[in-house]
Amino acid sequence: MGMLHVNSERLWGRISELAQVGAIDGTMGCSRLALTDEDAEGRRLVITWMQDLGMDIAIDGIGNVVGTWYGPDTDRHLPAVMTGSHIDTVKTGGRFDGNLGVLAGLEVIETIAEQGLSPQHPISVGFFTGEEGSRYAPDMLGSLVYVGGLGLESALEIKGIDGTNVGEELERINFRGQAPCPGPIPKAFIELHIEQGPILEAENIAIGAVDSVQGISWTQITIEGQSNHAGTTPMHMRHDAGWVAGEITSYVRRLVKEIGGNQVGTVGKIDLVPNLVNVVASKATLTVDLRNTDDEILKDAELQLANFCDNLSTQEEVKLHREVLARFEPVTFDDALVGDVIRFSELLDISVKQMTSGAGHDAQMFARVCPAVMIFVPSENGLSHNPDEFTSQKEIEDGSNVLLQMMAELSGLHYD
Ligand code: GLV
Ligand code: MN
Ligand code: MN
Repeated sequence: MGMLHVNSERLWGRISELAQVGAIDGTMGCSRLALTDEDAEGRRLVITWMQDLGMDIAIDGIGNVVGTWYGPDTDRHLPAVMTGSHIDTVKTGGRFDGNLGVLAGLEVIETIAEQGLSPQHPISVGFFTGEEGSRYAPDMLGSLVYVGGLGLESALEIKGIDGTNVGEELERINFRGQAPCPGPIPKAFIELHIEQGPILEAENIAIGAVDSVQGISWTQITIEGQSNHAGTTPMHMRHDAGWVAGEITSYVRRLVKEIGGNQVGTVGKIDLVPNLVNVVASKATLTVDLRNTDDEILKDAELQLANFCDNLSTQEEVKLHREVLARFEPVTFDDALVGDVIRFSELLDISVKQMTSGAGHDAQMFARVCPAVMIFVPSENGLSHNPDEFTSQKEIEDGSNVLLQMMAELSGLHYD
């Protein structure tokens, strides 16, 4: 029979169908922030597909959904080989980020099942709550709770950008399940994902064998000044929270450029109060996202930012408060599994390159408890977190075929 191959038409069909849920009009993109009605509708659709494949569905206390498939000869007592990702999106997201990894997992199972084959180990496909972190920080919330990195009770209390809280929203959309957290530890976790960056495309390489993920630091800074009349208040008498937020924003760019290397920094969200043309802002809230593969450099960047903020708040006589929204150290994936991604790509005659991940992913949480690795496929123009995010059907087929070989071997699937 030779090697198994996925049906990329079927996979592409599911990606397109899921993308209709929360579709952003006039674009290819999706808006399914975690635990919104759109997220719930997407969840229900994917669960229907899991049920059609005869998978057992477990929903845990944080709303992670794990579907497990057993072939006729599978030993139910063995740990599952797990794949998956997330189906929540940023508010202005694409159709591939996360969704690909989940739907490719279903495609792997369908490919194996339709051949009448049976792996020794169960195969499971998970989608994890709130990977994006855009509505509820930290990012990778569901997988963090799954691996025991954050207690369920604390996670349920997390407040979102819209004042809602995780527990209440989970109840509201009916996804607060009974399965235990932390969840069962898989034999291994393999995640297929779009690169979300420009490297594979630029080098004309089909597959990234991801060996690491850079460290992530999210800080929310709240500045309290004094609102006053924009026309009458002399400049030296202002305590302008809006201006302080602007200074911090441009400092982040300066700092990151000065550090150089692969340091990146982003102010992606600024809210002003009262946000009016002729009123000096009394309050500003902004977020700073700093990332580096080297945790020492990242710590130094955090320290320099903190010092800058403290000096500025003294100088401007404003109150300034910093809150850590997310902090994850750089993660290294399993050497042997990275080697398998390379080996299977070569066997399939697909070009491959070992690389690091700039984005955070659920697989990095699983790396805490089991061997884990990721497979990247190219992103057109390096675009992601953007409705125009695109990866071709052929590129997805290549990535999914590597995933399939990995899942087949790890689950002890034998065929000729
Ligand atoms: C998650 O998508 C992140 O890396 O921000
Ligand atoms: Mn993602
Ligand atoms: Mn994302």
